[in-house]
Amino acid sequence: MTTQPVVYVTRRIPETGLAPVREVCQVRLWEGELPPPKTVILQEVADCDGLLCLLTDPIDDEVMAAGTRLRVISQMAVGVDNIDLRAATARGIPVGHTPGVLTEATADFTFALLMAAARRIPEGVDYVRAGKWRTWEPMGLLGVDVWKATLGIIGMGRIGAAVARRARGFAMPILYYDPTRRPDLEAELGVEYADLDDLLARSDFVSLHCPLTPETYHLIGETALRRMKPTAILINAARGPVVDPDALVRALSEGWIRAAALDVTEPEPLPPDHPLVSLPNCVVVPHIASATVSTRERMAAMAAENLLAGLRGERLPYCANPEVYTRSREG
Ligand code: GLV
Repeated sequence: MTTQPVVYVTRRIPETGLAPVREVCQVRLWEGELPPPKTVILQEVADCDGLLCLLTDPIDDEVMAAGTRLRVISQMAVGVDNIDLRAATARGIPVGHTPGVLTEATADFTFALLMAAARRIPEGVDYVRAGKWRTWEPMGLLGVDVWKATLGIIGMGRIGAAVARRARGFAMPILYYDPTRRPDLEAELGVEYADLDDLLARSDFVSLHCPLTPETYHLIGETALRRMKPTAILINAARGPVVDPDALVRALSEGWIRAAALDVTEPEPLPPDHPLVSLPNCVVVPHIASATVSTRERMAAMAAENLLAGLRGERLPYCANPEVYTRSREG
């Protein structure tokens, strides 16, 4: 009788992910609604062959050192900034993630945020709920046009490009900034490459789609916000710490920019008494851009696929640290 590999799953995920893992592994599942404390993760990984985790779990070198048997880490998310990839590579542990399957849902949601802030939809909902709707108001709740407004996309990867495709339907001129120039997308979508300062100065909407790295941490701080038009709207469906929250509070309170719509914040969750929650020109939602039934089902299935490949000693189909396959295991 061969023993089944042991896997720790840090939260209940859709069955599309759990069922295939249960078939061949001994699954230990954290049933809490909130993420497991780090002390629990450290204990659990000690005798695990695989870890299926979420973006709310800090998977650092300490966790990997505790997981002496760990052969694979599979995250049910595309962003992996919560995982120390260098440490994983140095330890010879492949890290899986879920690119592609959440692109369209996230791009749809980015547009929902953009429209919500431009046309002041949450304020309108609050207005009706507060019993303030007494008549049609010629000057009430005026927003800004989306049609033909200039969109600046920071980070022209899969999601940035999917947002650009949607923006073409709104006849928006599109600028983009990315460390990698994309002549293919320039030809396909008519997007124009701009340096960051130029993009910030010319855009009516600035939408963030870059990963969180040391280079993008607080990329949108006081200097960037002061470069934007006073009528501009900032959208963040990437990672919270790409924006400096203190600078954003000042920008929104003092009118450096018109509004912001945030799916992600620093910190997460944002405390209910944080100024960004109560500012009327700021829309904050709880990191739900990929939250559709089918998208989350596909993300879970993909996380299982990565996990099982790693346990079989095969190359992960969606690997966030492919360099692990060209480096020898240290230590
Ligand atoms: C969600 O934010 C993800 O990275 O998948």
